[in-house]
Amino acid sequence: MSGVALSLAVLAAVLVAAAAVAEYSVVDYGARPDGGSDSAGAFLAAWYAACGHAGRPGSRPVMRVPAGRFLLSRAYFKGPCRSAAGVVVAIDGTVLAPLAVDSTAWIMFHYADGLAIRGGTLDGQGRAHWACKADAGRDCPPGTTTLDISQSNGVSVKRVTLLDSKNVHMSIYDCRGVTVQSVRIVAPADSPNTDGIHVQLSSRVRILSATIGTGDDCVSMGPGTSDVLIRNIRCGPGHGISIGSLGGEAGEEGVRNVTVERAALTGTQNGLRIKTWGKPNPGSVTGVTFSRVTMRGVHNPIVVDQNYCPGDVKCPGKSSGVQISDVSYEDIEGTSATPVAVRFDCSGSNPCTGFRLSNISLTYRDRTARSLCRNADGSATGVVSPQSCL
Ligand SMILES: *[C@@H]1O[C@H](CO)[C@@H](O)[C@H](O)[C@H]1NC(C)=O
Ligand SMILES: *[C@@H]1O[C@H](CO)[C@@H](O)[C@H](O)[C@H]1NC(C)=O
Repeated sequence: MSGVALSLAVLAAVLVAAAAVAEYSVVDYGARPDGGSDSAGAFLAAWYAACGHAGRPGSRPVMRVPAGRFLLSRAYFKGPCRSAAGVVVAIDGTVLAPLAVDSTAWIMFHYADGLAIRGGTLDGQGRAHWACKADAGRDCPPGTTTLDISQSNGVSVKRVTLLDSKNVHMSIYDCRGVTVQSVRIVAPADSPNTDGIHVQLSSRVRILSATIGTGDDCVSMGPGTSDVLIRNIRCGPGHGISIGSLGGEAGEEGVRNVTVERAALTGTQNGLRIKTWGKPNPGSVTGVTFSRVTMRGVHNPIVVDQNYCPGDVKCPGKSSGVQISDVSYEDIEGTSATPVAVRFDCSGSNPCTGFRLSNISLTYRDRTARSLCRNADGSATGVVSPQSCL
């Protein structure tokens, strides 16, 4: 080997070593891929090892869950971590929740800036809990959120499968800059309260290429949500894509700048919904665009409901204090499973303003569907069927 070739080989080896990732596998800390032994201690130890590593330029420490089935009773992965760029959680296998409900969240990441979760399956094993809820005579706890990401910025979650949660599948709370990409969420249509992705008090959230079938909202956006992009989403079964419920409490932050584009909804209870309590608590929803949406047999394809008040208690006059403005529906086509395909049921004290409909084609049993407006103002352009009532 010539001197030049030798020094190149040495240089290459040095570069490989520098790029080598600090990786902490849960099995090295005692996790057992047998689906039965609780690996909570091992997962936590691997997390703290990765989280305590300073990282190297261009590479983030990795916590790895290899192939196999790992029972995890509960995990609270807490930052801040030493690596300024964050920690990668790489999952090849399946992580199983316990059957019993013993907390409000199962896998939690808090204060984990730069967190990247890649791959794997998180199985909430919710069936026994749903059965308890279905049995009116039994007293059941509310359930457990599968993946709870809170107080974390610059997060990404990619190619993760979430199954059968006991409550919300993924919650994004008090975060800025979150990308959720190519996730799959699967739970039966009759599983109670199993929202796909719930976003609250968070901004700059992107949900891209998601496939969600569940027993509640595919995506729900609560108070304090802003700058959201949802693109290429398939939803069904489920309750659709929802902003709300808002105005349930006093002092809530509003929702603004939400774009949903290229969505396919199949057999869902709602399509695109904005929902507020019929209570006077002030609030706002503004700057929402829904575009290029296909509906197949959706029960309420386009719906604004400002009179939500289950049990009719504490809703004086049933008039919502939430102001909804600047909402556009563009290029929406398909079939409604009920005669009223467009329903804008807005607040008498805070009417909806600046609504726009363009290129809408929704039918009911091969016939023209209907639209219904209360306290809603706006305009329609292009072909709009059912005929606009704005
Ligand atoms: C609205 O949100 C998008 C992200 O979806 C962002 O790119 C855009 O800058 C925001 N617009 C405003 C006016 O803040
Ligand atoms: C409505 O459809 C027409 C014709 O296909 C198209 O030129 C126009 O850009 C569409 N408008 C919107 C807002 O999607």
